[in-house]
Formats: sequence, C-alpha cells, structure tokens
Amino acid sequence: MLKSDFAALAPMPDDPILGLVDLFKKDPRAEKVNLGVGVYLNEEGKLPLMACVEEAEKRLLARRQPRGYMPMSGMPQYCAAVQRLVFGKTNPAVLAGRISTVQTLGGTGALQLAAAFAHQFLGVNASVVSDPTWGNHISILKADGLEVGKYPYLSADRASVDFEAFKASISALAPKTLVLMHGCCHNPTGLDFTQDQWREVAKIVAEKDLLPLLDMAYQGFGSGLEEDAFAIRLFTEEGITFMAATSCSKNFGLYGERVGALHIVTDSKKEADVVTSIMKRIVRQEYSNPPCHGGQIVAEVLCDEALQASWRAEVDGMRTRIRAMREALYEAGKAEGEDFSFSVKQHGMFSFTGLSAEEMDLLREKYGVYGVRNGRICIAGLNTKNVEYVAKSIAAVLKTRA
Ligand code: LMR
Repeated sequence: MLKSDFAALAPMPDDPILGLVDLFKKDPRAEKVNLGVGVYLNEEGKLPLMACVEEAEKRLLARRQPRGYMPMSGMPQYCAAVQRLVFGKTNPAVLAGRISTVQTLGGTGALQLAAAFAHQFLGVNASVVSDPTWGNHISILKADGLEVGKYPYLSADRASVDFEAFKASISALAPKTLVLMHGCCHNPTGLDFTQDQWREVAKIVAEKDLLPLLDMAYQGFGSGLEEDAFAIRLFTEEGITFMAATSCSKNFGLYGERVGALHIVTDSKKEADVVTSIMKRIVRQEYSNPPCHGGQIVAEVLCDEALQASWRAEVDGMRTRIRAMREALYEAGKAEGEDFSFSVKQHGMFSFTGLSAEEMDLLREKYGVYGVRNGRICIAGLNTKNVEYVAKSIAAVLKTRA
C-alpha cells in the first residue's frame, strides 16, 4: 500500500557539510564562526559580490536579452572561455578542438555527468577516490552505478601525502577504473601532489589504462589561476584520455548560480564531437539544458580582456587573504602554546586540523566554531577579528585530550 510505504519512510541524516549551514544560522551566539561549508568570506565575514560580476550583470541587464532555452551542452561562449581558462588558450588540444566541454550545474553536476558517461558509455564499473575525500564524491559515483573504493592519500601522522602508498594502490587497479583525483586544493586535507608527483601519476594512469577524473573546484585558490591547472594541462600534454570537472562557484563567487563545466579530453576533434553529442543526450534526459544567467556572467567576464584582468586581480586578492589567514592562525596557535603548522603547510580553502569528530562537536557545541566532523575547517571563513578566538577555541579543545 502506498500510504504505508510513505508512513514507513525514514528521514535521511543531514548532509555533513550543507547541514552545518542550517545549524549555524540557528545558533544565537554572537561569537559563532562559520568554518564549515567551503565558501569564501571577506575580512568583514561577508560573502562578497565580486566587482567583475557586478559589472558583468550591469552589462547583461542593459542588453535586456530574452531568456530562451540554452543549448543542451550550454552556452558556446561560456564553454569555450572556460576551456581556455582551464587548459590555457594556446594549448594545442584546445586549438585542435579535441576537448569536449559542456556547461554543467556546478562542479557537482560535472562530476555526476562524468560518472554517468563513464558508466553508461564506456562500461566503467569501478572507481576509486582518495581517503579522505569530499563526501559527496562517493554518493555521486554510487548513484551513477559505480562501485567506489578508496586509495590511501595521507601519511600515518595525517600531516603529508603518502605518495608511495598512493602509487602502489593505483598501480594495482584494473584497467578502466575511474580514478577521481583533486586537480588542486585537495578537499578536505589542503595537501596536494607536487608537480614531480603529478608527472609520475600521469605515467601510471597511462600505463595502466585508468580513467582519471580530475576535480578542480578551486582554480586560483591554491597557487594561482595558471599554476593550479598544472595537473590538467600535464595530462593533456601527455596525451591521456581523461575527464575534468571544474567550477565557477568559488573563483567567481557564483555558488548559487550553479556554473560548472565537464571537460573530456580525447584524441581528436572527431572523438570530441561524438562525446559532446553523447553528453547532450545525457543532459537532455536529466535536466534538458542548463540555466543561462551564471554562464552569461562568466562568459562576459572572461571574453572581455579588461574585465578578465580585474577578475584575475580579485581572485589573487582572495588567495592572498586566505594565505594571510593561514599565517595568522599559525601565529595565534603559537600564542596559545599550540603547533598549528598544519595551517601553513596546507593550501587552498581548507585545512585539516587533525581533530576527531567528537572534538569537532565540542568545538561547535561549546565554542560555536563550526567545522566539518572529519576535522576540516574552511580557512576562508577566518578574519583578523575571529582568528584569535578560533585559535583559542581549538587550543581549549586540544587541552581536553588525556
Ligand atoms: C565544500 O566542500 O564545502 C563545498 O564544496 C560545498 C559543498 O557543496 O559541499
């Protein structure tokens, strides 16, 4: 009976990251600090509207464009501009047209399309993700019918990447396993492969016939817009067939617009065109076509030289502020007699504190400092006014250790 089926439904546990946003909003404490979800906040603790986005919106509004359906693969100018941003405008693969790029519903939408494509059209059944990884990776891959295993990523002291263990693990995978890696700014650990390590990874995935899926949601927040794209550009140069999911949520501050892209790097324009035709079919079935506004903003910024230059400067400014907050947290830790060197060794938006789930609960419940239960804090939520309080709170939690 349908009625009893409904009555028997059990509620789902809240999302470990987005669920914190609701909890935070309800918290009445003035001193509360939101270091949960990966959102960039400015020195005033506010989510900024980037100046280049405001300018692009003014221009779009002045044009008063009608809102027709977008192509299933997204706005062509957006796809081309984002492809140039990710791969570099003089990249031979870009010039040869051998990359299929489609606009997606954020980085999450790109990952989902990648998984659907790999499973339905390439017969990929197995995937592996880093241990730890962004929790939603596992859910997305499973929802698309893939088995999900884990590869080791962190050393025993959880302070660096255990590259040897990682290499041994992926070298033993069966051909055609999808290997999901973080292109830059590893989420949640803030620890990335070095360029030399990426070169070794490129060799292994090619030799073992693995299917890499590089997730790059934070281009510009690690070392720089060009530097952060190193792995994706290297894989392309090496002639590897792979997929990359990218996002404009963070580096354009367009979280709620859901603007991302899936790029599939193939051997020829002919192959890329076939892949795009398949992506269009998947998109049509799932949501028909993407929304226009966010993609139009990004295309407006990236296709105008001056506006793009001011956007790059804004992204550089955000990265510099995050870096300064890493230093400030480290110094504030020292003042508390604690070694928070994790903060300066890691980079990108997130840091892995090494705190247990119970300690993160204590941090939230007693001090109103919100971070993810896996020990992750969002450094971009720190500012000069709250960093000492956060350091004191983490130090107080650490002092409860026996
Ligand atoms: C995060 O990891 O906090 C972000 O990617 C936001 C999200 O959707 O989880």
